[in-house]
Amino acid sequence: MSQSLTLRRPDDWHLHLRDGAMLRAVLPETTRHFARAIIMPNLVPPVVTAADARAYHDRIRAALPEGAAFTPLMTLYLTEETDLEDVAAAKASGLVNAVKLYPAGATTNSASGVRTFEKVRPVLEKMAEISLPLCVHGEVTDAEIDIFDREAVFIDRVLDPIRRATPGLRVVMEHITTSNAVDYARAQDETLGATITTHHLVINRNHILAGGIKPYYYCLPVAKRETHRLALRQAATSAEARFFLGTDSAPHTDANKLLPCGCAGCFTAPNTLSILAQVFEEENALDNLEAFTSLNGPAFYGLPPNEDTLTLTKTGATYPAQIATDDGPVTVFDPGFPLDWAVT
Ligand code: DOR
Ligand code: ZN
Repeated sequence: MSQSLTLRRPDDWHLHLRDGAMLRAVLPETTRHFARAIIMPNLVPPVVTAADARAYHDRIRAALPEGAAFTPLMTLYLTEETDLEDVAAAKASGLVNAVKLYPAGATTNSASGVRTFEKVRPVLEKMAEISLPLCVHGEVTDAEIDIFDREAVFIDRVLDPIRRATPGLRVVMEHITTSNAVDYARAQDETLGATITTHHLVINRNHILAGGIKPYYYCLPVAKRETHRLALRQAATSAEARFFLGTDSAPHTDANKLLPCGCAGCFTAPNTLSILAQVFEEENALDNLEAFTSLNGPAFYGLPPNEDTLTLTKTGATYPAQIATDDGPVTVFDPGFPLDWAVT
């Protein structure tokens, strides 16, 4: 049995870094293992314009640990007022690598998101023309749609119509959670990619709700039933080019997770690679881990894979239960099993 595994250095194609004290505390947890990450723009207020993205980029760079070689790949938050010339200039200058679509009200800080998809059609057409990917939070927000069905309904009612109306638009289905999404992604051409988180490979909805409510397993899209988790594991470990890692590592202070209306998000940056190695080993697919963490994402985004490497050894991994921030502690995702693979 192999005891050591060397991969091209991974990238994270969906990451929340926040700002201020939280940014300073969580950034090293990502830069320790990852070379690049697509940075989510759902700050308060959101990162809407190229000027906002430039300023946020500079705050991230200023918060980097000494000597860290890490490139933040910036995104713009799509609103019904987004100016397509500003988007095009941001792409042309190399500042942004994607635009993020949040349906209004779908998740944390998504109030400025899109309500009427017709209104953003000109921006989407421009993005197709300049080959700028659209990262999609794929959930409808209608109160009458069951929360466990929101992803599947979004694919039928919103995603597929957008793709048909905007040929050539590159789309990333973010943090997919259902076999419906896996099946949809597989039926599309190479303009469609899909990210899968670490936590959705590990937990199903029982982990959140059975035997007492577990706020640290609550995220959006919410974890679904076991058959969906198994479909995600099969997709992630398949080495198919359309599936790649986007951790959606989403730190919230413990105080905010434990409120009566607690925040959604799992903080997985510190132990993601150890967990993934274990998942891939359980699926007899360790040889496919590099495609998922380090090759498929750059290929979709038209970037070269990283030149340097990262090694995992089967020596047992430890990680802190919490990390400290000046805003209060943030609990690290607990996969529920001891971790065999350590990043060395
Ligand atoms: O669980 C989540 N947390 N899902 C999201 O879509 C947003 C994220 C956050 O920003 O906390
Ligand atoms: Zn996210």
